[in-house]
Amino acid sequence: MFRLFSLALLSFTVYSSDVLLQPKSVLDVKTGAFVSADVLIRDGKIIKIAKNIQTTSSTEIVKIEDLILLPGLMDAHTHLIGDTSKKGYASIGNSIFFSTIHGVKNAEKTLLSGFTTVRMVGAPEFADVALKQAIEEGTIVGPRLIVSGPALGISGGHCDSNLFPFSKDSLNNTPHQIVDNPWDARKAVRINRKFGADLIKFCATGGVMSKNTDVNAKQFTFEEMEAIVSEAHNHGMKVAAHAHGLEGIKTAIRAGVDSIEHASFIDSEAIQMAIDKGTYLSMDVYVSDYILGDGAKKGILEESLEKERTVGKIQRLNFKKAVEAGAKIAFGTDAGIFPHGDNRKQFAYMVEWGMTPLQAIQAATINAADLFGMNEIGQIKEGFIADIIGVRVNPLENIRSLESVSFVMKEGRIVLQ
Ligand code: ARG
Repeated sequence: MFRLFSLALLSFTVYSSDVLLQPKSVLDVKTGAFVSADVLIRDGKIIKIAKNIQTTSSTEIVKIEDLILLPGLMDAHTHLIGDTSKKGYASIGNSIFFSTIHGVKNAEKTLLSGFTTVRMVGAPEFADVALKQAIEEGTIVGPRLIVSGPALGISGGHCDSNLFPFSKDSLNNTPHQIVDNPWDARKAVRINRKFGADLIKFCATGGVMSKNTDVNAKQFTFEEMEAIVSEAHNHGMKVAAHAHGLEGIKTAIRAGVDSIEHASFIDSEAIQMAIDKGTYLSMDVYVSDYILGDGAKKGILEESLEKERTVGKIQRLNFKKAVEAGAKIAFGTDAGIFPHGDNRKQFAYMVEWGMTPLQAIQAATINAADLFGMNEIGQIKEGFIADIIGVRVNPLENIRSLESVSFVMKEGRIVLQ
C-alpha cells in the first residue's frame, strides 16, 4: 500500500528524531554492489550505514525489508512550469499564473516518482525561482530545484517566442533574455542571476518545438556564447546549451559550456571534443516517442513533428556512439513536453541504446550531481543528504524497476511509502 504523507507533515522544518531505514539492501551506485545494511538518518543527513545500528527509544524505525534502496534520482533537463497537456498554439491562452499553478502539481508528481533533485532549464518570468522558493520553505512539495530563469536566445531563435505575427509592440517589448551581441548577453546573465537563477541556459541552435527555426542552424556566434559562459562562470554559475546541430554543438563546447542539451547531431569529433573539455551530454532519448505519439493531439505543430521525425532517430544512434566513446552523460529528459513523473521511462531507452543499467542509474545520480556541482547528493553514503528511493525489483537486472518506485525520502523526510 502506498501512503502519501500529508502536506502538513512535510512542511515541518524541525526534525524530531533519528530515522532508521531497514531495507533489503542498499545499492552502491559507484560500484554496482548491493550492501546489506541499515541506514541511519539525522537532521536530513545519512549518518551511518551498517548492520545492527544502536537506536534509542525515540528513533523512528522504518521496516522496508522488501526494498532495495538507491539515491534519489536527478534530471538535468525539465520544465516544471506549464500545463503539459497543451502545446503550441493550444497553450497560448494560459497565463503565467495558470502555468505556475500547474508547476506546483508537476513538482509534486516529479518528487513522488523518485526524482529528488531536478534542473529547470528555461522558465518564463522567473516562475521557476518562485517554485523553488515555495518548495524550500515547505509551502509546497517538490524536488530540490536548480533553476535557470528565462533561457537566453537570439531574436527569432529557439529560445524566443515565435508564435505571434509582427506587431510594433513586439519590437518595443523585447524581453531581456533575447540578445544579439556579447554585451547584452552578459547583461542578460547578470539579470538572470539578480532575480534568482542558479544556472544559465541558452539556445545554441534551432529546435524541434519552436516555430520557424532550423535544428541545424547555429544560433549565437562564438563571441556571444563565450560572453555568456565567461560571465556565468565568473559568478560560479553552470551553463547548459540547447544544441541539436553539429556547428552549434561544437561552438558551444569550444565556448566552454558545462552541458550540451539534446546533442542530436553530435559526431565522433565533437564527442571527443566534449570528452577532452569535460563537457557533459544530456540527451533526451525518450521524448521523441512521446512527441510522435501524442504530440499532434496536444497541439504540437506539424512543422515540429516533421523535424522530430529526423532528430529522434539520429539522436539515439549518436547517444549510442557517445556511450561507446565513454563521454560523460547526465540524465536529462525534457519532461514538460511529456507528463511529469514519466521522466523515469527514459532509463529503459538509455539501456536499449547502449548503456548498462548501472550506467543509466549513474547518469541520474553521481553524474548529474557532478554536473550540478553538488557534492553531497547522488549516493547513499555517510555524510550525504538523505535523498533516498526504494524499489522492489533489482534495477540492475530490470531497469524498468525504476518505473515503479515505492519509497521516496527527500532530505530525511519520507514523502512516499
Ligand atoms: N526542447 C527540444 C526542442 O524543441 C526538444 C527536442 C525533442 N526531441 C528530441 N529528439 N530530443 O528542440
